[in-house]
Amino acid sequence: MCGIYGITAVPNTNIVPWGMAGIRRLEYRGYDSAGFALQNSAELTIIRSVGDINALRDAVSGHTLVSSVGIWHTRWATHGAPSERNTHPHTGCDTRFAVVHNGTIENHDALRRVLTAAGHRFTSETDTEVVAHLLEMEYRGNLAEAMRAAIHQIEGTFALVAITADEPGVIVASRRSSPLAIGILPDARLIASDAAAMAIHTREVVHLEDYDIATLSPTSHMIVDAGAVTRMRPSQAIELEAESAEFGGFPHRMLFEINEQPAALSNSLRGRIIAREGHVRFGGLAAVEKQLSAIEDLTVVGCGTAYHAALIGAMYIEAYAGLSATAVLASEYEYRRTSSRRNSAMLAISQSGETMDTLLAIKGGKDRGILTLGIVNRVGSAIARLTDAGIYNHIGPETSVASTKAFVSQVTLLALLAIHLGRQRDLIRTDAERMLEAVLRLPDKITTALAQSDHVRAVAEQFGWMQSCLFIGRGYQYPVALEGALKLKEVSYAHAEGYSAGEMKHGPLALVDDRFPTIAIAVRDSRRKKMVANIQEIKARRGPVIAIANPDDSEIASLADATITVPEDDEFLMPVLTAIPLQLFAYWMGVSRGINVDKPRNLAKSVTTE
Ligand code: G6P
Repeated sequence: MCGIYGITAVPNTNIVPWGMAGIRRLEYRGYDSAGFALQNSAELTIIRSVGDINALRDAVSGHTLVSSVGIWHTRWATHGAPSERNTHPHTGCDTRFAVVHNGTIENHDALRRVLTAAGHRFTSETDTEVVAHLLEMEYRGNLAEAMRAAIHQIEGTFALVAITADEPGVIVASRRSSPLAIGILPDARLIASDAAAMAIHTREVVHLEDYDIATLSPTSHMIVDAGAVTRMRPSQAIELEAESAEFGGFPHRMLFEINEQPAALSNSLRGRIIAREGHVRFGGLAAVEKQLSAIEDLTVVGCGTAYHAALIGAMYIEAYAGLSATAVLASEYEYRRTSSRRNSAMLAISQSGETMDTLLAIKGGKDRGILTLGIVNRVGSAIARLTDAGIYNHIGPETSVASTKAFVSQVTLLALLAIHLGRQRDLIRTDAERMLEAVLRLPDKITTALAQSDHVRAVAEQFGWMQSCLFIGRGYQYPVALEGALKLKEVSYAHAEGYSAGEMKHGPLALVDDRFPTIAIAVRDSRRKKMVANIQEIKARRGPVIAIANPDDSEIASLADATITVPEDDEFLMPVLTAIPLQLFAYWMGVSRGINVDKPRNLAKSVTTE
């Protein structure tokens, strides 16, 4: 989820403040370091820093930077840790060429070997740096030609934007699979990985196509296609309101983040699964692998949505790693006497990495002398720093108070962790292979689940009268029921409770009448039959039922008052898919009630007090 922003403007225009503002508009994508390159003399000026754009701004304070050509980048570490030398822009052996890149260069190892043998010296661990050296090697006085030669040697996906000290006013760009668009102004050309980021300056953009090579000058641009033919790609008007660039054109951040989930999950998974070997790779756990293989029990802690993910995670770890695993609310941890044997460990789940109760639970775990691990989204946050080792979600910032994409990522990473721990123990390779292949298909299945959004909206409107309701599920779907109820409470202010369906007869059934709906998660898993029985007992008491079911389940569809379908999958991955319509249901219910779904009353995104 890196971001690219570049400007070439007529001489005597200082584009530095403009570029800083432009890259800020891409912050929402998530990043852990940022940098830029300016062209103004025989060499380029490169400024890079780890952390947010404010850190970059601080890095330049005190310098007088003036230029009419520059390229900016926000980086999200994939190859190599977040560090200044891994931050883009990258240069070749000297600073005559600078390049920024989104995507992954799959053959970078092989290219690096060839370039090193030819005398090139590398200074970073990134895949991108090979492009800077390729440009340097291929340059014969024309950057666009050097770019063409470079991209023919690259395998993988890329949006590349480069400048050279030798061609004043020129920016060259190319792409494959990663988006890039040119923004047109009377006396400047912009280039960005997200057209919406340019909307405050221009509505006129040209989207590049795969293998296009674009040469930008302040008052013109030229695009040459894969077949070396010059193209007049038509410009298009950006339809988004400039202000909505931060949330991708969706009316609310929550809906943006819900819709971002396929991409966010792909980011969480990237580089971590070697399906054909039944192997999971977590760089952040490498230092504690030996301890992990000796763990006998695990306590998983979190608050709110993260706790619901912890509940599912504990089940995964029991099922696939054979460990004793317990989920505990972080705020309850201090009252519990969970095991503190030498081979005990704690795993904290937190999107923000700053939740006070979770931090205190980790401190408690440390006091008990056990290994502490984290699944955290915010890079460098307090929890990330405090735990002994961990896994980052890499889903970009989640800004809507109600957590959505973090849950999907947390649950999936917990499944991967269970497979990883399982492989260190008794989980057989072929089973792991099959499970990992299913995990890799999840982003597409989430896309299918999201396609139900309009139908979910209609169901939410149909039940707009409800004051109170129940969510029920069994097994992996029990924590999803808790999560569905939490989402609805948070963003619609309707009273909702999540229950294990097996508990219906032990109390909740007393609530059921024709004004009290139940949302029943009844997918085709080993618990389906019992869920059908639960639905029947609710219907026998005239309770309205909204079923979350798989397609073509006519039995459930005929019992329920409304049915929302999700694609079928391996049972262990179904909680990821059933969570999607419940997020949408809460969202549409909240919107229909005129609630500020992104910032519900009385709640905060990051709860940094006990
Ligand atoms: C707050 C947020 C929830 C979140 C919980 C835990 O209550 O509103 O969305 O699930 O904190 O936050 P964390 O950042 O630790 O995941």
